[in-house]
Amino acid sequence: MEKYLCVLGIESSCDETGVALVDVHGNHLPVLLAHALYSQIEMHQAYGGVVPELASRDHIRRVLPLTEQVLAESDRTLADVDVVAFTRGPGLAGALLVGAGVACALGAALGKPVLGVHHLEGHLLSPFLSADPPQFPFVALLVSGGHTQLMQVDGVGRYLILGETIDDAAGEAFDKSAKLLGLGYPGGPALAKLAQSGYPTAFKLPRPLLHSDNLDFSFAGLKTAVMVQAKKCAAAQNCGVEALPTETLAGLAASTQAAIVEVLVKKSLAALKQTQLQRLVVAGGVGANRNLREQLNAECARRGVRVHYPELHLCTDNGAMIAMAAAMRLQSGQQKASEVYAFDVKPRWPLDAIGA
Ligand code: KG4
Ligand code: ZN
Repeated sequence: MEKYLCVLGIESSCDETGVALVDVHGNHLPVLLAHALYSQIEMHQAYGGVVPELASRDHIRRVLPLTEQVLAESDRTLADVDVVAFTRGPGLAGALLVGAGVACALGAALGKPVLGVHHLEGHLLSPFLSADPPQFPFVALLVSGGHTQLMQVDGVGRYLILGETIDDAAGEAFDKSAKLLGLGYPGGPALAKLAQSGYPTAFKLPRPLLHSDNLDFSFAGLKTAVMVQAKKCAAAQNCGVEALPTETLAGLAASTQAAIVEVLVKKSLAALKQTQLQRLVVAGGVGANRNLREQLNAECARRGVRVHYPELHLCTDNGAMIAMAAAMRLQSGQQKASEVYAFDVKPRWPLDAIGA
């Protein structure tokens, strides 16, 4: 690849518009120059979840001002951009189309090539933006709102899925449990906050597939178990779930978090054992969970395993991870940027079909 490249990355797969610029010098780890993010959370809050059409429209409003912002912060102009990268999937079709359309229009107007990036590869490689970047190979625990996977990662584009959820993702389990406890959207951070003041053993909840002899997950039953416990408490107190005393809600939140975290930690340890690898990378929104980090750190320290996380603010969706993944794909020779500006998006796109 060329000695020097400036890569612009655009993320628009769900409810966050993210734009970033990275610099690539030869084979050195790419350097983040600037990134800007606009979260639509407030707009979707009124509906209790993401409204796809509203998300697409808001991406249209934000993407160019954010691009101007990162260029100004990096002291660059559009003429300095060598490659325009965008999230090609998976995600909401309309939202993805905004990022893809803008990226390809910019590429065509500037006469610069474009590159479609896999959103999960962005999450997976986001720890390379941290002060303590990992080295290949490693086991990756990818825990987001839509995906829960354990992978063996031997290099850029060399991903072997070891196990994944057969139904709900870990983030979905946080969000759905939070919603039925009346905590609103997005539920993960709210449930984690409330859990701090509750006892993780207050309620008995299932640990799905904990003792299965594979590395798969199942979280769909957990929300039902949380609902049954919450309704039992509400019936005993003759009130609705949302009117339960804070102490009870905190106990339910802490017990839910404990169930999810225990499964994630034990399966990650099993994946490390199976692969004989000594390095774990955690990525995706749920990777911001403090309890998960504390438990993984403690268990991995005991086994001499190094754990790497993205910076906290880069755990959830952002443009930096998309620019970084594009830069690392180009560096590794896994992909070439294209001068074909007829774009498509892939709302469903398994990570192990990334070459397709
Ligand atoms: O990676 P991400 O931003 O989006 C997807 O690609 O899905 O992840 C969002 C998910 C949501 O389910 C959110 O509730 C969860 O990550 N999340 C958390 C925390 N912060 C975000 N879950 C538990 N604890 C947190 N602190
Ligand atoms: Zn994501």
